[in-house]
Order: sequence, then structure tokens, then C-alpha cells
Amino acid sequence: MRHDEIYMRIASVLDGEDDWVAAMATVACELHNAFAHYHWTGFYRTTSPGILKIGPYQGGHGCLAIAFENGICGAAARTGRTQNVPNVHDRPEHIACSSTTNSEIVVPIKNSEGNVVAVLDVDSDDLAAFSDEDVLLLERVCQYLELRYHA
Ligand code: SME
Repeated sequence: MRHDEIYMRIASVLDGEDDWVAAMATVACELHNAFAHYHWTGFYRTTSPGILKIGPYQGGHGCLAIAFENGICGAAARTGRTQNVPNVHDRPEHIACSSTTNSEIVVPIKNSEGNVVAVLDVDSDDLAAFSDEDVLLLERVCQYLELRYHA
């Protein structure tokens, strides 16, 4: 399915849904099942200052907690910027929840004050799996979530 169709599908499925956990679970499911190169798809949430805790996800086991200082997720949370990492083995801070992961993208989700409230993390076993279209889609989805649940 094409990226813009997935975006429209997510926006349509979430229409009228005001619960944040239901939204995260639905986004993880829709994205994960839309693309064969998305091998782990899910959220980490800022549950206390500087700490991310796992949220709804699809795929194998994910680490339960990540400090902002650690991992690609921590880098996204700390900097507030998308991290598109074509080869995770080039980033020593990468946390390997799965030994088969080769690339990863993490997009921050901010509240109206600009604080990172969660990150959307997608891992792939393929090298350089995430195209500009993936970046755009995931950033659009996160902007949608920001406006709808954190404005
Ligand atoms: N690889 C991530 C950790 C989370 S898992 O991949 C699900 C990171 O380096 O932050």
C-alpha cells in the first residue's frame, strides 16, 4: 500500500477516538502491517523526566525502559529531532533489542510546550530500510498525534 494511503487510513480509523493509548496501539498495528520492511513498530513514552517507557508495539520483545542519554530513542527524545539511522552498527549508543536489526528510525512526538512526550520507533532487519517517503509518513503521523492528543 502507498504511503499516503496509509496516512489517510490512520487518520480515518482514529477519527473520533480521543484515547491516547488506543491511538498508539492502532498506529503501531496499521504501520507494522502495511510495510514488509517494518520489523518492530512501536512507541516509547516519557513517563518521568529523562525516562522513556515502552508503549504499544508490534514485533518481538522491546526493552522496557530507555534513559534519554541512551539509544537512538534517547537521541530522538533528547534532541527533539527525527533519527534515521541506515546502519545501527555505526551508532555505538544503539540499543539492540533484537540482534537482527540493521536500521532504525525514531520520530519524536511533542506536546504544545515542545516537550517530547513519546517517540515512534521503527526497526528493520534491512540495511538503510527507510526512504524519504517513510520519513515523511512517520513525521506526518506524529504531527497528527501531536495535534490531536497533545495540543
Ligand atoms: N533500538 C532502540 C531501542 C528500542 S528497540 O529497538 C525496540 C534504541 O537504540 O533506542
